[in-house]
Amino acid sequence: MYMKILGIETSCDETSAAVVSSDGRNFEVKSNVISSQIKIHAKYGGVVPEVAARIHVEAILPVVEKALGSGGMEKIDAIAVAAGPGLITSLLVGNETARILSWFLKKPLVALNHMEAHIYANWLMNKKINFPALCLVVSGGHTELILMRGHGKYKVIGETRDDAAGECFDKTAKILGLGYPGGPAIAAAADKLKNKNEKLKIELPRPMMDSPDFDFSFSGLKTAVLYATRDLKNKYKMEEIIPAMAYEIQEAIVDVLMAKTIKAAKKYKVKTVMLAGGVSANKRLRERFSGAMKKELPGVDWNIPDFKYCTDNAAMVAAAGFFHAAKKDFTPWQKLKVDPNWEL
Ligand code: KG4
Ligand code: ZN
Repeated sequence: MYMKILGIETSCDETSAAVVSSDGRNFEVKSNVISSQIKIHAKYGGVVPEVAARIHVEAILPVVEKALGSGGMEKIDAIAVAAGPGLITSLLVGNETARILSWFLKKPLVALNHMEAHIYANWLMNKKINFPALCLVVSGGHTELILMRGHGKYKVIGETRDDAAGECFDKTAKILGLGYPGGPAIAAAADKLKNKNEKLKIELPRPMMDSPDFDFSFSGLKTAVLYATRDLKNKYKMEEIIPAMAYEIQEAIVDVLMAKTIKAAKKYKVKTVMLAGGVSANKRLRERFSGAMKKELPGVDWNIPDFKYCTDNAAMVAAAGFFHAAKKDFTPWQKLKVDPNWEL
């Protein structure tokens, strides 16, 4: 069934709208407009919810209008919106917009989970994804290993017990005095480390790497970075500490993520392994993931979304929305509710 879906995403600090068409096999991103607030929040060192909501209000209609292009609303079959998890004030802007458009234009509405949308960024790559599949979803607020036995069938087999991987990047970047968001800042600083065996050797813990479950814990890593940086400052300059520390932070996070992902893929004998979420934009994680898949699970397919579909965007919402719409899994606009704590 061929359908064109308008996706809307305002869970955190990106205002995004996209039009994606699909017949269920191939996905075509007709537009994916993202208006990022990162520069504004960078001044505060993190997202300020009230500020984010106000900017979403200003940005949302121009972003939707641009995404729709000259064809306008008439050719859209359904509207999909991420209704949670996220910041409630941010979510409300996208959801009220989706509700009004659905009511006024009489187009069916799909309310879906933001983490589910991250997973469906993988379908935008148009590679065959066979079930059962495993997805490592790593974002600013979540770190989860999700087993999928079919479309819409999710089982969280592991998750973080404290901070998310993205949060760990963000918080350790703050300790090092790097900017927000911390993930790209840590990655860039780590790239500057020319010689890995320099005098400044840092060894951070790999929390829960060998635990028998598939859970994660990253708050201890943040504390370890805080103390190690404080001690090293007595002997070295911050310019020397930062690249070595950033390199080791990235390695520690990636080591733990990869160890658990490969172990889970083996245990559940999955046919496809996927990456998703903002942290999957990390070059080192992508390299290590593809390397580990080739080496340790040569018969298993794997997939990583393009960089532009890793961090928050509405194309992924539209892709997930397609599968709901195909099953006529709609939410009447009268019943649309945001849920800032919605668990998959
Ligand atoms: O999925 P996302 O855009 O928003 C949430 O749903 O949270 O993820 C944002 C997170 C932030 O913590 C950010 O630091 C991290 O993704 N991130 C990265 C990179 N790009 C974004 N982490 C590591 N390396 C990157 N290149
Ligand atoms: Zn996200």
